[in-house]
Order: sequence, then structure tokens, then C-alpha cells
Amino acid sequence: MIIPVKTPAGGYDIVLERGALANAAEYLPADKKAFVVTDDGVPGKWVQMVTQALPQAAVHVFPQGEGSKNLTTWQGILQAMLAADMTRRDAVVAVGGGVAGDMAGFAAACYMRGIPFINIPTTLLSQVDSSIGGKTAVDFEGTKNIVGAFYQPQRVIIDPDVLGTLPARHVAAGLAEALKMAFIYDKKLFEDMEKAGAAAMTDPDLLQEIIRGSLLIKRDVVEQDVLEKGLRKCLNFGHTLGHAVEAAAGGILLHGECVAMGMIPLTAPALRPRLKKALAAYGLQTDIPYTAEALRPYLVHDKKRGAGTITAVCVEEVGRFVLREMTPEELLALL
Ligand SMILES: NC(=O)c1ccc[n+]([C@@H]2O[C@H](COP(=O)([O-])OP(=O)(O)OC[C@H]3O[C@@H](n4cnc5c(N)ncnc54)[C@H](O)[C@@H]3O)[C@@H](O)[C@H]2O)c1
Repeated sequence: MIIPVKTPAGGYDIVLERGALANAAEYLPADKKAFVVTDDGVPGKWVQMVTQALPQAAVHVFPQGEGSKNLTTWQGILQAMLAADMTRRDAVVAVGGGVAGDMAGFAAACYMRGIPFINIPTTLLSQVDSSIGGKTAVDFEGTKNIVGAFYQPQRVIIDPDVLGTLPARHVAAGLAEALKMAFIYDKKLFEDMEKAGAAAMTDPDLLQEIIRGSLLIKRDVVEQDVLEKGLRKCLNFGHTLGHAVEAAAGGILLHGECVAMGMIPLTAPALRPRLKKALAAYGLQTDIPYTAEALRPYLVHDKKRGAGTITAVCVEEVGRFVLREMTPEELLALL
């Protein structure tokens, strides 16, 4: 299926289809020179399916993991693009999770002030969330996603079958982000996910439905608020405390795992058991394993902070959210 996304510059299509990579030639510009950016954790067979459809492709591989999401890796990509004589007539193609997508997107945004970018997300988190909306960034001086650009892809190609090789922990982390979107925006999707429970982790058809539902929510939100000036802040539900947990954990917890924990304190107490049960079905931990004291330094540096306060996204009813300005102390008091 094709999900069109409108942007101020026109828009792009999301192709969502089981087996899309096996038919990649249908969706990729075979006549263009392509610069494929991936990391060494993405199974080679997915990258090969893409390069087979792109006869003039150069492939750039960087080491997997959040530790690579920095300006050194970004510079390496730009150097290789220059060496490959890339021009604005060519295209950068990301094949990988949120890290590969963010790195390739930010390089595409900057090289020659912007060259075409195609995103092929291969983790569930990147399929439901990071591959659409046009945010690209690297971590800098210990702060996550602090240097980056809004840069829209020309196309996003999502094949749920690639999730067959993704470790269960990463599938669960992606489902946490999908559940987040349903919980703030779409009661029906939340109920469907509750009903599917753990089966969603291994059933590609259920996963495709969840990806579709999440993409429709994210599209609705980003079309209304391209530059994250208002509505789009709702997608940060669970992220303010989640980012602090992620930083305190020093890399041992996945982003989605931290978001799962970060959602609970900002949910109305009566609703918490329901959200916890839905997350626990994926094997996700829902209690924050740190004290307020341990998290305080990380909240103070949250880049989404305004003058002394943080815009916190709260849920009091499934499918709806409210934005509240809270001080770090008020947030920590919820723990
Ligand atoms: N731009 C945005 O709007 C946005 C939104 C949310 C998150 N993010 C960013 O996304 C990143 C997290 O993304 P992620 O969770 O995808 O992590 P990731 O990109 O690090 O991928 C996780 C791991 O899975 C491996 N992998 C990828 N595809 C695979 C597959 N099909 N089978 C087996 N292994 C595979 C990768 O090599 C990596 O080791 C963070 O840096 C976060 O800041 C960006």
C-alpha cells in the first residue's frame, strides 16, 4: 500500500508492503547513481536486495550502534560521497534502523545543501517512527540529537518482512513506540494492540497492521506541525523521562525500552495498570530503575525545556493527550 505524506515542499510516498525489498526495483530509481548508507549490524541480505535494484550503487558501512551517531561518522559519509562524485542528480539511500536513517538523512541534507534521500528503515522503531517526519540529527558533546536538520525524504520503503531478522528486544522496543502513538491518539489501535498482545512480536501481518496504524498517526501529526512547534510535541510522550533514563543507563537500555518506562509516571494513576499490562506483553520493563536524584542532572539538560519548564505530555484517557508545562522538580516528584 502507498501512504502519501504532504510536506511544504510537496510530499512523498511511504511504500508499506511485505516483500517490498524483493521488488525493490519497482520503487527505486535504477537510472540514478545511489549512495547506500548502512551499518554493520544490518543483515547483508537486506542491503543486497537494495543494491541489486540499484546498478550504480556505492555502499558505505559504518559500525552499528548509537555510539556511531556523531559528527565523525557523518564526516566519513560526506568524505565517501565526495570521493564517489555524488551530485544533486543522485540519491542517498539509507538501509537500517534509526541510526542509519538519521546519519544518512543528515548527510543528504548537508551535502551540496541537500541531495535526494530515500529511507529504507529495517527496525520496527524506524518503520513506525523515525523514518517519517523529516527529523535528522547526530549526538554531540554527550547530548542526544542536538545537531541536525529537518530534511524530508523523497520516498520511504517499509518491508515488514525485514523484521524477521531483528532481535526480539528491538521488536519490543519498536512496539513500545507504536503503543505510545496509539495511547495518545488512537483508542482503536491501542485496543487492537492489547488484543494482539505478544503475538504481534512474531506475526508479520499483525506487525504490518500496527506499522500502518502508527504511520497514519505520525503522518497526521507531522503534516499539521512540520517543524515541531506545537502538536508534534505529543509524540514526545514518555520521552522526557525516557531520555533521562536512557542517559542514566549509559547505553545498556534501548530507546524504546526507556520510552516504555517514561510513559508510566505521566499517565493518570487509574490507567497505569492497563498501559503496564500492554507493555509487559512484549516483555518490557515498566518501572524506572533509578531514583529521582539520579535522573535530575539529565532532566535539567533536556533540550525541549523552555524557560525553566518542560512541556510534558500527559494521558488521562486512552487516545487523548494533554500538554502541561512542568518544572523538572514537578516531573521528578512523579517518580
Ligand atoms: N529522526 C527521528 O525522528 C527519530 C525518531 C525516533 C528515534 N530516532 C533515533 O533512532 C535511533 C534508534 O533507532 P533503532 O532503534 O532503529 O536503532 P539502530 O539503528 O541502532 O538499530 C538497532 C540495531 O539493529 C540492527 N538492525 C537494523 N535492522 C536490522 C534487521 N532487519 N535485522 C537485524 N538487525 C538489524 C542495527 O544494526 C543495530 O545494531 C536513535 O538514535 C534515536 O535517536 C530518530
